[in-house]
Order: sequence, then C-alpha cells, then structure tokens
Amino acid sequence: MNYGFDGKVALVTGASGGIGRSTALAFAGSGARVVVSDVDDAGGEETAAMIGAAGGTAVYQRCNVADAGAVKALVARAVQEYGRLDFAHNNAGINNMGADEYQDDVWDRSLAINLSGVMYCMREEAEVMLAQGGGAIVNTASINGLVGNPAQPGYTATKHGVIGLTRHGALRWAKAGIRVNAVCPGVIETPMTAPLLANPDMRKLLDSMTPMGRMGHAEEIASAVLWLCSDQASFVTGHPLVVDGGSTAA
Ligand code: NAI
Repeated sequence: MNYGFDGKVALVTGASGGIGRSTALAFAGSGARVVVSDVDDAGGEETAAMIGAAGGTAVYQRCNVADAGAVKALVARAVQEYGRLDFAHNNAGINNMGADEYQDDVWDRSLAINLSGVMYCMREEAEVMLAQGGGAIVNTASINGLVGNPAQPGYTATKHGVIGLTRHGALRWAKAGIRVNAVCPGVIETPMTAPLLANPDMRKLLDSMTPMGRMGHAEEIASAVLWLCSDQASFVTGHPLVVDGGSTAA
C-alpha cells in the first residue's frame, strides 16, 4: 500500500531489525524520507542502505532512547537533515527474556528504555510537530500492555505505561493536529523472539497459542503503523490497536 507520503519525514526508533526495520522500509516505500535510529549501528546502517537501494531516502543516527539528550539530538537531526518531522514510530524496546524483572537493575533498565524512552521521544517530537502544525505518533506497546504476563512484571508494567502515555499525548495534543496512537503486537517473529524460536517445540507452541495458528510478521505491524499515520486514520487518536492474530480476543 502506497500512502503517498512524498515530502513527508518519518522517524523510527529500534529500526535496526524486526518491526522497526519493517516500518522504516514501509514509510520509505510510501515516499517518506526516513530517519532510522537504534543502538545497533550495523543494523541501523543496513536498514538505511536497504532504503537507499530501493530508491528511497534515509539517514541513520545512533540514539539510546533512555538518554534524554540523545533523543533531543535525534529529533534535531531529523529537522536539520530534512526540515520537518511528520511521523514518528517510537518502537525501541527490550523484553529481558529469561531475566528476573524483580531484580532492581533489570527493572530499572526496562523502565528507562521501554517507558522513559517513549516519553522522551514523544515530548521532543511533539515540540517540532506543534511548531509545524501537526503530525502523527505511534508508540509500540504490546498485548502485554493490555493483559498481564505472569513472568514479566517490568515488561507488563512498561507496556501498560506506553498505552497510558499514548492516551495522555492524544488528549494533550488533540486540538493541535497531532494524533498519538499505539500498536499492540501479539507474538511476532523478529530478532527479539528468535532465541525462543530456535527451539522447534517452542515455535510450535507459540504458533498454537495464537488463535490464527501462527505468529505474526513484522510487516503486519508496519502496515498498522502506516495506516495509523495516514489520513485514512484522520479521526483515530489515543487508540491501542491490537495486531495479534486473535490472542487477546479470548
Ligand atoms: P527487536 O529486538 O528486533 O527490536 C528492538 C530494537 O530496539 C532493536 O533493534 C534494539 O537494538 C533496539 N533497542 C534496544 N534498546 C535500545 C535503546 N536503549 N535505544 C534504542 N534502541 C534500542 O524486536 P522487535 O520484536 O522488532 O521489537 C520492537 C518493539 O516491538 C519492541 O518495543 C517490543 O517490545 C515490541 N513487541 C514485540 C513483540 C514480538 O513478539 N516481537 C510483541 C509485542 C511487542
């Protein structure tokens, strides 16, 4: 689907692979110039190169979203490079798979990246969007932002927090032409879930746990993000859009 984003500028965090890379490629495929960001420089440069090879325009900037100064510099780079910022996908996140999130350091890291990172991004992006008269922000939450996960207090709390921030931003900037939404992916096959999927039994189990009988693809999340940013979603704000093959329907 080409949304005709020519002349528009999109920023994607956590875009070295997985969902963020798919969104960056999709924005570029619709004509937007893209600021690709991550802490994995090799993957980020590769995403930008993939966009360039496909005829699009992109630049990579390293940014640890847990560092407020780095986020400020990232948004400034978008404006410096392309003159504006129309869309932002605040997607960087960690899962802490296997780690005990009741440990202080693991808990603190979750909060810093998954929650504070989204807040730092939103406040810098909104400042630019307010000055230019509008924009659209999509935050990556999770189905664990809507339902609890008994194994992961940090992931569950931060993803619920992302939905809270999304609703806050939607209300705060509703009259300023900035729409703020979230996507809530179910289990998606990405580098994040790769360690689990290396075990064929686990892959079978995860496929069978989803009512549609399979995990999702990163491109299916990117589709939702682009739609939320497009004029097709012009009256949609503050919405946590579930893309989960039916997992939370039960
Ligand atoms: P991924 O691990 O491929 O992507 C996450 C990206 O964030 C990586 O490229 C990583 O380098 C980057 N990152 C980590 N810490 C960072 C930091 N401090 N600053 C900037 N970038 C940082 O995994 P995936 O699946 O593409 O995840 C993207 C988002 O989707 C995450 O927020 C995740 O929580 C969420 N999600 C993923 C699901 C899945 O099943 N894969 C399900 C629900 C939500």
